[in-house]
Amino acid sequence: MNIKDLLNQMTIEEKLGQMTQLPPHMFIEASKTTVYGDMRDLELKKQEYLLAGSVLGIKDADEMISVQNIILKHSRLKIPALFMADIIHGYETIFPIPLAQAASFNPNLTKEMNAIAAVESSTAGIHVTFAPMVDLSRDARWGRVMEGYGEDPLLNEKMTKAAVDGYHHGNPKDVGYLASCFKHFAGYGASEAGRDYNTVDMSYERFYNVYQPSYQVAIDAGSEMCMLAFNTFNGIPATINRKLTQEILKKQMGFDGVIISDFDALHQTVAHGAARDDEHAAELGLHAGLMIEMGSSTYLTYGKKLLNDGKITLKQIDDAVYKILALKEHLGLFDDPYKGASKSREKTLVRSEKHLNAAVDLSLESPVLLKNNGVLPLNKMKKIALVGPFSKSQALLGAWHWHGQSSQNQTYAQTLSKDMTLVSVSESYDVSHIKDVDAVILTTGEGEYDSGESKSKVGIDIDLQASEAIKTLQKNNIPTIVLVHGGRPLNLTSITAADAIIYTWFLGSKHAEVITHILLGNVSPSGKLPMSLPRHVGQYPMSYHDFNTGRPFDPHNSEYTTKYLDIDLTPLYPFGYGLTYGEASVALITELKNHWDGSSPLTLIFQIENKSNFVIKEVLQIYMNMHPSIPVRPVKKLIHFKKQLLNPYEKVLVEFSISIHDLIIYDEDKNQHFDPSTLTLMYGFNSKDTKEIIIDWRPHHDIT
Ligand code: NOJ
Repeated sequence: MNIKDLLNQMTIEEKLGQMTQLPPHMFIEASKTTVYGDMRDLELKKQEYLLAGSVLGIKDADEMISVQNIILKHSRLKIPALFMADIIHGYETIFPIPLAQAASFNPNLTKEMNAIAAVESSTAGIHVTFAPMVDLSRDARWGRVMEGYGEDPLLNEKMTKAAVDGYHHGNPKDVGYLASCFKHFAGYGASEAGRDYNTVDMSYERFYNVYQPSYQVAIDAGSEMCMLAFNTFNGIPATINRKLTQEILKKQMGFDGVIISDFDALHQTVAHGAARDDEHAAELGLHAGLMIEMGSSTYLTYGKKLLNDGKITLKQIDDAVYKILALKEHLGLFDDPYKGASKSREKTLVRSEKHLNAAVDLSLESPVLLKNNGVLPLNKMKKIALVGPFSKSQALLGAWHWHGQSSQNQTYAQTLSKDMTLVSVSESYDVSHIKDVDAVILTTGEGEYDSGESKSKVGIDIDLQASEAIKTLQKNNIPTIVLVHGGRPLNLTSITAADAIIYTWFLGSKHAEVITHILLGNVSPSGKLPMSLPRHVGQYPMSYHDFNTGRPFDPHNSEYTTKYLDIDLTPLYPFGYGLTYGEASVALITELKNHWDGSSPLTLIFQIENKSNFVIKEVLQIYMNMHPSIPVRPVKKLIHFKKQLLNPYEKVLVEFSISIHDLIIYDEDKNQHFDPSTLTLMYGFNSKDTKEIIIDWRPHHDIT
């Protein structure tokens, strides 16, 4: 297809239609699709909305084929629509929420999950997913932390790359390839007070060092689209923020794909106080280079008038439409507008046995064991009582399971009873009647819809009834294993007395089966926290990666140091923390010189030893700091990690290559700094308990 020729034949109305994305119910009344967000009446005439260039959310092959037929029938130039949807942690085979995927510290798993999601969603003719969400966040009040990869830039980058690679399954024109739209540019995860959609105000130093890298990784991995964030960024809504879109995203970061708004966000610039009305919003959007407006119709309604009034140029429209048509060509839609949509493919591929089995295998590394005084793993012969609100619950998929169906899930009561004697099962926290059991499994936490979009909250403490139950059980000498459910870090301070604690997150279609495997010791837990767990909600925003202050906390000088009067400054459990059923040790093998000039990489070889008779996987983490440094550095910054399988009593050598890339820090003008300094490398199995290597950093003169 010659895109230029096609563009030349299009009317202005047809072009503005391409720049508009609408949900399926605009085309077929009986649409089974639910749209995430409040859909306003856009007051569009039929001949206007039938021009839409893309469709948001689609239920299945039948629905896609009907909508595409309607659009093609109406399209003078036979331009197919693009179908986009939120395929976030699976299509119908649901995988762990992204935050739980990050907890695996194993990006390969995410790649495989997304490849399956791409294949399944292709059966409904979905061409683009609104994922990955690569917004870093350090605030558990923000409910969308469940959709991201946590608080750390490096982990976020690695997960982002794997996520995009997974969706991009095969070649773009292949059935089963899902184009990706990384989101939400920029800084959505830094909303003030963790309140969704709220103001983001950020220094460029912080943006370049912490928030920008994962968006860049998505671009470098070939993500075709970028979704702008709902929030203001440094005073201007991201949707119309020219500096963000033109200078940073396009020029500085080299993004050359399609830029889309979030749902209704162009219209919402009026509520932000930035645009006078919808006409003004359309003008600002076109000047910022916003190519598709999702769920609103300001371009269709006012674009022609703005052009006639000389407020926008034809070039601005043509540039946008060219990119949209080029994406359709890239995905092969001009040759096959129904690409992949097929009832029979749906039947054989969606929730197939193969995919469901993969959901078990790929989810096993997400649960995080926080405490174990030896009660786990459970022996199959044990007599167990199961209590708490999740005992018989099927609501274990996680918040973004748009196509998933909880009713097909197994419950803990079902999965546990296959291998253990469940003497009692109750959904309450009442344990007063429990006796004559070997252990109690107590389920607690927040519900699957307590996190996700618009689910900000300040109450992140565990239900007090859980700690009361633990106390009662301890009085009666009954060991308690707590399973914590959550889409965000919760405050576990009240339940640390339990004998064992597993952070289960929400693991999707096979949640209960996966946790049962872990409880029984069929596999050792190996997850690590992708966000620190707090002692109090008032600590947010926080991360292990914070700067020091000029008055660091000093327990011996309690007056003028940084602290809270009423709570310990540290997290309850730090970033990168998580136990296995075994025990490992690590030792540095390499004899290092005490200075380095960066002209060749620094090789570090470690020996990890499994000191137990369990098969385990441990994550060796390397952190760094440089002192002095301007700009200043985080106290610790993760620069490498490796997840290693260890057979019983096995010793394995693990090698890391430290390069000057690991030392990069940007100032607010994006200049890199490598000044002479003392480099401290730290290593360990979590961010807190680390050993240090101190090196004199004297950069070679070629390194500027
Ligand atoms: C709003 C959300 O912020 C965004 O992430 C999502 O992709 C769109 N709605 C479409 O559902």
